Amino acid sequence: MIITVTMNPAVDKTVSVGTLARGGLNRVRHVEYDAGGKGINVSRTIRELGSSSIATGFLGGNNGRAIAAALLEKEMETDFVWVDGETRTNTKICEENGALTELNEPGPFVSGEKQRELLQKLERYAKEDTLFVLSGSVPAGVKPDIYGNIIRMVHQKGASVLLDADGELFKNALAAGPDMMKPNRMELAQYAGRDDRISDEELLKIAGAVQKQNAGKIALSMGADGAMFFLGDYRVKCPALPVKVQSTVGAGDAMAAALACAWSAKCDVEETVRLCMAASAGAVTTTGTKPPSRELVENLLKQVVIEKL
Ligand SMILES: Nc1ncnc2c1ncn2[C@@H]1O[C@H](COP(=O)(O)OP(=O)(O)OP(=O)(O)O)[C@@H](O)[C@H]1O
Ligand SMILES: [Mg+2]
Repeated sequence: MIITVTMNPAVDKTVSVGTLARGGLNRVRHVEYDAGGKGINVSRTIRELGSSSIATGFLGGNNGRAIAAALLEKEMETDFVWVDGETRTNTKICEENGALTELNEPGPFVSGEKQRELLQKLERYAKEDTLFVLSGSVPAGVKPDIYGNIIRMVHQKGASVLLDADGELFKNALAAGPDMMKPNRMELAQYAGRDDRISDEELLKIAGAVQKQNAGKIALSMGADGAMFFLGDYRVKCPALPVKVQSTVGAGDAMAAALACAWSAKCDVEETVRLCMAASAGAVTTTGTKPPSRELVENLLKQVVIEKL
């Protein structure tokens, strides 16, 4: 069973305008609402890839109800903790020339009591055949050690964890030894106190050290430069697939979803790498954070090129 955890979901509101007039009146040409938040994106992609998950985390207010209804409509299972306040709306303003302006709200404050409720829920799901996907930022009131605490708690029950987070959350969680992780180049560089000018050789060294330290499996995504995989002794690099780019937002979430599906289907390392590359390339061909179709992913699987590191 795969359980995705989204602590700070959002309604993603994408508005299209001609040219954004700062301080002036802007007429919106098109508006679209999507159930968002990284774990929810992962769940949506898992569903599209033909597997299933339960989406959990915190929801509140009308936006929370809209997200729950949208997931239900897609026949996805959910089990959220309901909190006071309103789940945030993240507004993305797309201009004709491709410029993207984002307005991300902080989200509701989540009390200690509600956090305990979520942790108890997760503990009940934790079994040897459970994979938890911990994705994205946390709302106000939640400390950055929460992912580390969850990892330690569910490990005691024999469950596994896939981590996709950055900054303090990543650092704290890493110390607890997640079973799998999907950092991007920037997230791994930051962890090592570096910036995005980091070379591939240096990234390789850092990933190797991280893997040695906590024995986890690492999928290191590098945007248009592809990805490197550290799955036990199997260490490979794949160039990005040549696809028509619509939106790269959520490509990493699609890769996390592929890792989770591969875990659930007990894929071997090569199948895992192929699925990660195909699902993430498929995701960049869709608008916003829409998951790629299974048909497209199946076609892309054959195109993946794997090079030994
Ligand atoms: N321009 C691109 N062309 C082809 N594939 C791409 C492109 N950008 C991303 N990808 C694919 O998606 C994967 C994940 O991308 P990226 O490293 O940008 O993830 P991310 O920063 O975690 O994204 P997000 O957090 O928004 O989901 C890459 O490893 C690659 O396989
Ligand atoms: Mg990411």
